[in-house]
Amino acid sequence: MGTYAVTGAASGMGKAAAERLRGDGHSVIGVDLRNVEVIADLSTPQGRAAAAAEVLDRAGGRLDGAVCAAGLGGIPGRDSLVQQVNYFGVVDLLEAWRPALAAAGNSKVVVFGSNSVTLTPMVPEKAVRALLDRKPAKALRVVGRFGKRSAPFAYASSKLAVTRWARRAAISPQWAGAGIRVNILAPGIIATPLLDEQIARGEKASVEQLAVPIGGRGNPKDVGEWVAFMLSPAADFLCGSVIFLDGGSDAYFRTDDW
Ligand code: NAI
Repeated sequence: MGTYAVTGAASGMGKAAAERLRGDGHSVIGVDLRNVEVIADLSTPQGRAAAAAEVLDRAGGRLDGAVCAAGLGGIPGRDSLVQQVNYFGVVDLLEAWRPALAAAGNSKVVVFGSNSVTLTPMVPEKAVRALLDRKPAKALRVVGRFGKRSAPFAYASSKLAVTRWARRAAISPQWAGAGIRVNILAPGIIATPLLDEQIARGEKASVEQLAVPIGGRGNPKDVGEWVAFMLSPAADFLCGSVIFLDGGSDAYFRTDDW
């Protein structure tokens, strides 16, 4: 049985993944704002450093895997928070955990992206590049140009940046070369508190109008199954892949984009 760090383990898909892993007999170290082993605020550098260190301490310097599910939806007025949690809350923790993941020999990482990276029209490339260059103030200025409509662009650019970061890491000597498989899960509309918040804050129409060929909404418990699969030996040959779990929305909008 392994030891796994799961951020965002108090709610939604992170919670479902943590429960699924525990059900299989693994040890899970949850990281979140509340109700988990490691209470931390991933929106600040200090919070991220403390979370990373406490997890390493609890894991004894060896991690079989990590799931980065902590995240915030795009709501007006919190572009900076979205960038800090969705991008730096993944990258800083994984960088800190890399030696512990390498120590396990054959470890796996699941990063939560989003199908918004392909569904949002004109995700600002400059914001994505600024995040990858660790220039959050610049990324904020770029999305700020969208004025009151900046929230979806802040969200999609944070998710595109983290997806690109994960794909770069996945194929590098420091990660792939150390036996660490990094992959990205890109959910669509999944029924979680994050989605409820989006709807309550005025996104009802865009959620309801989104094309979902298979219909309905995804179930967080099913996403937990996917996470467990992506951490299992069956996923040994999966590296740098972006798995869209979205009822067909990405295929609908990008049918022939391959
Ligand atoms: P959720 O809101 O149910 O869970 C997210 C968790 O992240 C919460 O427990 C929250 O406390 C934690 N979190 C937020 N800010 C934090 C901070 N500063 N420090 C520590 N923890 C923090 O959301 P859900 O839907 O389960 O989302 C999981 C991931 O999936 C997120 O990264 C989200 O962006 C992504 N996603 C969600 C979709 C959806 O439709 N629900 C669609 C596409 C992607």
